[in-house]
Amino acid sequence: MKKKKAKLKLKKQAYYILAGFVAIIVMIILGINFYNDYKYKQTNEYKLTEKGYSLEESKLINSKLSDENINTLLNEEKNEHITNLLNQKYFLEKNLDSYLTYIEEEAEEEIDYTDVVAIVNVHADNKWYAIELETDTSLKERMNVNKFYALSSDYTPENLVNIPLDYSYGSEGDNKLIDYAYEKFLDLWQAANDAGYYLMVTSSYRNYADQEEIYEYRKSTLGERKADETAARPGHSEHQTGLVVDMTSKTEPDAESFSESEAYKWLKENAYQYGWIERYPEDKTYLTGYSPESWHWRYVGIEAATVMHEENITYDEYYAFYIES
Ligand code: DAL
Ligand code: ZN
Repeated sequence: MKKKKAKLKLKKQAYYILAGFVAIIVMIILGINFYNDYKYKQTNEYKLTEKGYSLEESKLINSKLSDENINTLLNEEKNEHITNLLNQKYFLEKNLDSYLTYIEEEAEEEIDYTDVVAIVNVHADNKWYAIELETDTSLKERMNVNKFYALSSDYTPENLVNIPLDYSYGSEGDNKLIDYAYEKFLDLWQAANDAGYYLMVTSSYRNYADQEEIYEYRKSTLGERKADETAARPGHSEHQTGLVVDMTSKTEPDAESFSESEAYKWLKENAYQYGWIERYPEDKTYLTGYSPESWHWRYVGIEAATVMHEENITYDEYYAFYIES
């Protein structure tokens, strides 16, 4: 009898110990959960969902923006544009405020976020020539010259070489390119010739004074607005880089109708393989500031030209995303 009682007591004690154990484990689990929950609520992801962003949107914001910008978002109403902007391939965080300002001030009801990002990236949210940036000539064939980036009046490229009259109009010495661009021009010329087209250069390197003369003449005859659509102001012309040719073909010498020619179609499809790009394509005036110029080809190197060809972007967009940023 005594033995049975002792056994029962022992069993009871074992139960208590087990129950104690279970209770401790439950408390630990609850504690961990509570702690994790507490920690999660401190995260930007949670705070963003509290602001009304979906979990997916919160994750996107968290992965793309700095804490500083997320904090700004957390202090404002839910921003309906932010994830559309973040989903753009060429989104640059440094331009976030400018994208939002541009949307607020300029964008149509139906917002094209790809355009917003492109316009701001290339500085075209400013009026043409409203900001003046210095062209980094140390970038060589990747330097950018446009309505914002300018060369100094005394910038002259080194090692200019004459383009022989076999490939250019005018007199010997009228047309020049930087030596390495000339080499690549010959590659392009030969490939075009093999395909049945005879390219002829109509204009190439122009110094500051040449450009000033061209621009001033256009301005005096057409007025400033029209002149700006087709001619760069001095310092802002790519022709001053020595990396550009204006060209047409022997059978289609007229620049204005060159865009209809087979030679132009061939250039559009093939010139990138030799490092050349069409600088002012159709439908991109809002980014380049110029009417289309089917005759104006710029040497940028094969790598950059290939990216631009594959991604169908202008040099201004390429520069903003791949170099300037
Ligand atoms: N026609 C081009 C834009 C220039 O003047 O450089
Ligand atoms: Zn040109």
